[in-house]
Amino acid sequence: MAHLRGSHRKGREPVTATSIPHAPGFFASETPRVVTQRFDYEDGYTFERAMATGAYEGFKTALTRTPSEVHDEVRAATVLGRGGAGFPAGVKWGFMPPTVWPRYLVVNGDESEPGTYKDRLLMERDPHQLIEGCLIAAYATGLSQCFLYVRGEMPLAHERIAQALNDAYADGLIGKNIQGTNFSLDIILHWGAGAYVVGEETALIESLEGKRGMPRLKPPYFPAAIGLYGQPTIVNNVETLSNLPWILTNGAAAYTAIGTESSPGTRVVAVSGHVKRPGVFEIVNGTTTFRDLLYGEDYCQGIRDDNELKAFVPGGGSAPWFTPEQLDVPFEGRECSAAGSMLGSGAIMVMDETTDIPTAALSLTRFYAHESCGKCVPCREGGTWLEKILTRVVQGRGTSRDLDLLLEVGATICPGDFPHASSSDLGLDATPFPYKMTTICFVGPSAFAPIHSALTLFRGEFEDRLIDDDAAGAIGVPVAISSNPTGEEAS
Ligand SMILES: Cc1cc2nc3c(=O)[nH]c(=O)nc-3n(C[C@H](O)[C@H](O)[C@H](O)COP(=O)(O)O)c2cc1C
Ligand code: SF4
Repeated sequence: MAHLRGSHRKGREPVTATSIPHAPGFFASETPRVVTQRFDYEDGYTFERAMATGAYEGFKTALTRTPSEVHDEVRAATVLGRGGAGFPAGVKWGFMPPTVWPRYLVVNGDESEPGTYKDRLLMERDPHQLIEGCLIAAYATGLSQCFLYVRGEMPLAHERIAQALNDAYADGLIGKNIQGTNFSLDIILHWGAGAYVVGEETALIESLEGKRGMPRLKPPYFPAAIGLYGQPTIVNNVETLSNLPWILTNGAAAYTAIGTESSPGTRVVAVSGHVKRPGVFEIVNGTTTFRDLLYGEDYCQGIRDDNELKAFVPGGGSAPWFTPEQLDVPFEGRECSAAGSMLGSGAIMVMDETTDIPTAALSLTRFYAHESCGKCVPCREGGTWLEKILTRVVQGRGTSRDLDLLLEVGATICPGDFPHASSSDLGLDATPFPYKMTTICFVGPSAFAPIHSALTLFRGEFEDRLIDDDAAGAIGVPVAISSNPTGEEAS
């Protein structure tokens, strides 16, 4: 029986969950596929189908080698972390102190970044691939306990992973002395409670320890040194680990033959918004451009109603925005960063010419302000202020002072230059990613990112909604900075 933690565990009748209906599914393409091959089968998540299509072969190959050889293979493949930061998995594993036990593997399946739902599909449609990735990572790093943290709002993923764990335990693929070797691993499935910030790895560790899910102060920057229960801990994303079975089966050289030297392999992306075919796609890392993705027949097939593209968010709701000028930027971390944004969580949100830009920015800012855990003041207060001031502007009650105020409040969260895309129309050069921040984690800056992009690239759309000071005074909106810049009455 799989070890279950969270609200699903105690003697309840199993519930057959259904997929979230409004998020489109996966579309296969002609390009190489590393992690979505089993998506071709309706029953790809079952033990029978998985075993009939090569599941656990990569792990069995790993068992014929020493742990350090397996680690070297993963290091040679340069598997960039797919959770957002893009840090190579093999290098990160090497940060664990070599002589400290116990040590843990934590799988980050908390995916909640706006627009992002590729990990959910990987968990729902191929849980055995993920479990095999955990086995390979655990074997390579010499650990025997793994915690699989799945977002609470993903009941289908939870149900299928639980079943897959039961089947793998029953078949002797997980547990003690696996396949007659000295290697043992337990995998504990833990159901999250639905806080976005718990995707941040130290908040996730706090949550696993039974505490409120708030990010830890840094340093240490990597839980590899001090993580779960104060022990060395590897935190990896679902997609990162899902790459490992293919790499062990086919070899690092075959993996690096796909994509580019700095960004090998493939990448799973989720596209939402105003394209003809939104969905999840596996694309080639490093070479596929945003133009290929948004207009390619294999992928999104163009903008809906053949409208003009106005802007797109290239890497999850936290990422600075791009415009059609950046369509030829490839999915390559450094190039995307130099162009003023980030690839982040692999979610692309597309806005066509009909989009009301201030409202779009507000919708993202509202999300991050709401998700602030409250641990640091610039995020807790700043995010709320940003939301309230922008709401006033969107509702046609703002003055020109409010636009400056948005930038001033943003500068308390992110002092100095904030990244943005170039614009030949506006005569702007790109300011590269990343930014400085006064907060513990990226939630604070994320509330400001959409406002900064929208105001920098589409200021006219904000100005069109402003009222003058007399009109503002007449409806009781403050026209100068005060102790209550949001303009809301205290309750
Ligand atoms: C606010 C915030 C939310 C995050 N959410 C996720 C998430 O949902 N899934 C994820 O894998 N990483 C998320 N991350 C990144 C994790 O902190 C961590 O870098 C990642 O899980 C490491 O795995 P990787 O190296 O395989 O990418 C988030 C980071 C921040 C700051
Ligand atoms: S930035 Fe926001 S979410 Fe992150 S630790 Fe600070 S208050 Fe919490």
